[in-house]
Amino acid sequence: MAVNLKGRDFLKLLDFSEEEILYLVDLAADLKAKKKAGVLTDQLRGKNVALIFEKTSTRTRCSFEVAAHDLGMGSTYLDPSGSQIGKKESIADTARVLSGMFDGIEYRGYGQEIVEELAKYASVPVWNGLTNEFHPTQMLADLLTIRECFGRIRGIRLAYFGDARYNTADSLMVVGAKTGMHIVLASDQKYFPDPALVEECRKLAAESGGSITLTEDAREAAKGADVLYTDVWVSMGEPAEIWEERIRDLSRYAVTKELMDLAGEKAVFMHCLPAFHDLGTSVGREVYEKFGLKELEVTDEVFESAQSVVFQEAENRMHTIKAVMAATLGYEAC
Ligand code: CP
Ligand code: NVA
Repeated sequence: MAVNLKGRDFLKLLDFSEEEILYLVDLAADLKAKKKAGVLTDQLRGKNVALIFEKTSTRTRCSFEVAAHDLGMGSTYLDPSGSQIGKKESIADTARVLSGMFDGIEYRGYGQEIVEELAKYASVPVWNGLTNEFHPTQMLADLLTIRECFGRIRGIRLAYFGDARYNTADSLMVVGAKTGMHIVLASDQKYFPDPALVEECRKLAAESGGSITLTEDAREAAKGADVLYTDVWVSMGEPAEIWEERIRDLSRYAVTKELMDLAGEKAVFMHCLPAFHDLGTSVGREVYEKFGLKELEVTDEVFESAQSVVFQEAENRMHTIKAVMAATLGYEAC
């Protein structure tokens, strides 16, 4: 039966089948081709979406806004301080208020239970723009990028380095398990993902032909990898005091040229961004002043190398977020 996602929430990839995930990647590729060819895709004219951001964003916010506009929709951005959400108005009440005015709601914030609660009470599709636990729209962009680079997703070996118990790493584990990838998470044991999620992903990987490996050995993880992937060591919402401990625990998992060379010249470097690879940020400079490190989770050499596909990956956020809104709001029916 043809995939039909109209009316569905997009909260985490555990809720979607491999077929549905790949359908969204295909739709994104089609929307990307149309955008490049100057073909308008504004069939959702007359609809409006609300974009709630309780944490800051560049890529996700811009992607939702540009994608909504390209689809013919209006968008309203609610910033971390500019709404009543959670402070003067409950999530359940907010969901019902916004459902009366908008056709879809994006939420970026803290616990996954908040976006799940929003979806429970909303009568329109709710899209997860990042929680502490999951970052599902990032995963679609990553799949599209991997397919553009290698022509396939199944069988790809993706090695992730660094904080493996947070949104990006955990979502990579889920999406890899669903789509038959070999996911290797390299980190200090302290930062390994929740064992229950690992077990669930291993069961899914057994069905899809993929695998999940946890290791403390960064060099072993890099050998033979198609993709080397990392994320920041301190995520949004975590206290600045934690930097010292993270640097101590995770420095040996920084993605360096040595690791890229172990993977080979065909391997690519990916990062959800933003990245600390030089002194071009105020946080980067503060860390440098305190700890003397000019680059953190990835070296500038790797970030700026020909093997780095991070800006292609960032652009794909927009095309894939467009696919999520299009599919759940009924674009395919047009
Ligand atoms: N990768 C990502 O989600 O970026 P932003 O925080 O800029 O949205
Ligand atoms: N782990 C990062 C991802 C940013 C896109 C964070 O939550 O800040």
